[in-house]
Amino acid sequence: MVEGLPLRTVADRFGTPLYVYSKCSIIDQCRSFERVFDGLEHQTSYAVKANSNRALLRIIAGEGLGADVGSKGEMFLALDAGFSPDKIAFSGVGKRDDEIRYALERGVESFNVESEEEISVLGQIAVSMGKSADILLRVNLDIDAGGHAYVSTSLKRNKFGIDWQQAGGVLQWAKGVPGIRIRGIHSHLGSQIVDVETFLTAARRLADLVNDLRRTEIQVTDLDFGGGYGVQYRGFVAHPKLPPEEPQELSLPTASLVQAVLPILQGTGCRLLIQPGRSIVAYAGALLVKVIYRKVSDERVFIIVDGGMNDLIRPSLYNAYHQIVPLTITGAPHEKVDVVGPLCESGDFFAHGRMLPRSQRGDALAIMCAGAYGYVLSSNYNARLRPAEVLVDGTTMIIIRERETLGDL
Ligand code: LLP
Repeated sequence: MVEGLPLRTVADRFGTPLYVYSKCSIIDQCRSFERVFDGLEHQTSYAVKANSNRALLRIIAGEGLGADVGSKGEMFLALDAGFSPDKIAFSGVGKRDDEIRYALERGVESFNVESEEEISVLGQIAVSMGKSADILLRVNLDIDAGGHAYVSTSLKRNKFGIDWQQAGGVLQWAKGVPGIRIRGIHSHLGSQIVDVETFLTAARRLADLVNDLRRTEIQVTDLDFGGGYGVQYRGFVAHPKLPPEEPQELSLPTASLVQAVLPILQGTGCRLLIQPGRSIVAYAGALLVKVIYRKVSDERVFIIVDGGMNDLIRPSLYNAYHQIVPLTITGAPHEKVDVVGPLCESGDFFAHGRMLPRSQRGDALAIMCAGAYGYVLSSNYNARLRPAEVLVDGTTMIIIRERETLGDL
């Protein structure tokens, strides 16, 4: 079920592969973060990169959240969806001049900057436009946040931010750069972080840094703690006829990770900002696929489905785990299978060696928790058409992105 509708109804109506989202889930997640701050001056900015479908952005903007954008395209979508410019922060290690100009023209609130050269360029562009730019310096805290190497952002060897021990020197210098106004510091540790200790270490380091900076007459009014709050991919659906899946990642709701660091961050007296992406939209989405063939080899049972790595690349790219659930649970015996797509790559899979109720041609499966970094990372590889996206609101289904056609290729 998604809200008031069986997923099977949605799959039958719109075909597969298909992304389906629950409006209510997105709203719940937005509110769970807002409740943590409980009246405190703050801003929760949704990291648009996690899912930039315009209909979903409108829901999130409607909840009063701000937006963290990483490109001109995301800025355009956020503005178009109704996020007010004074709630938009522009992040990213490689902002182009035209993107900076676009942001300044539209009155975007702040720039999370990552290098001295970027600060110089930003200042020059701002002055040439008769404006000034508010900055938060992204610091690299050199903390191992665990998880896949591709989503680690806070180790010295990563391209992101400026070494936290050099932040003081850089900001002293930035004070004198025309067109630049220092607002504070920013940190983003990585993604799908489930260990609260990692966040606590980062929060303490940042709080110390804020105090050190203030001692040297650097104004720090804003502290942006970034995103990265992990979600529970395993065991999202529990049913007596499904193989049990132990929830392994998180034992507490995601927002409790923010709750844990709040007292430390609050101690700085700064206005607090966070940028959750995954945790706002992951639970809301599922990718629905249909079994084309069941193929048995000497070693394996392959369930070949009509969606592939071009629709959802997370298993192939990060070895990510997504629970897979049949849309009709029949009590069929369980078997160990590889769930694979139709593309010409052995890396095209959704699960390896997974226990699932025996499925056959025509059965529909839901790949769960696919609302974040799903459609946004899709491609036309193998000249495959990108899937449609549907939003369910109660018992209403709304198509929020049409399925591509051959003419789109
Ligand atoms: N802020 C900044 C500056 C970011 O770079 C990101 C994500 C976020 C916030 C949001 O992080 P989140 O709350 O979603 O973890 N494609 C990968 C994840 C890449 C994350 C990139 N940056 C995946 O599918 O796991």
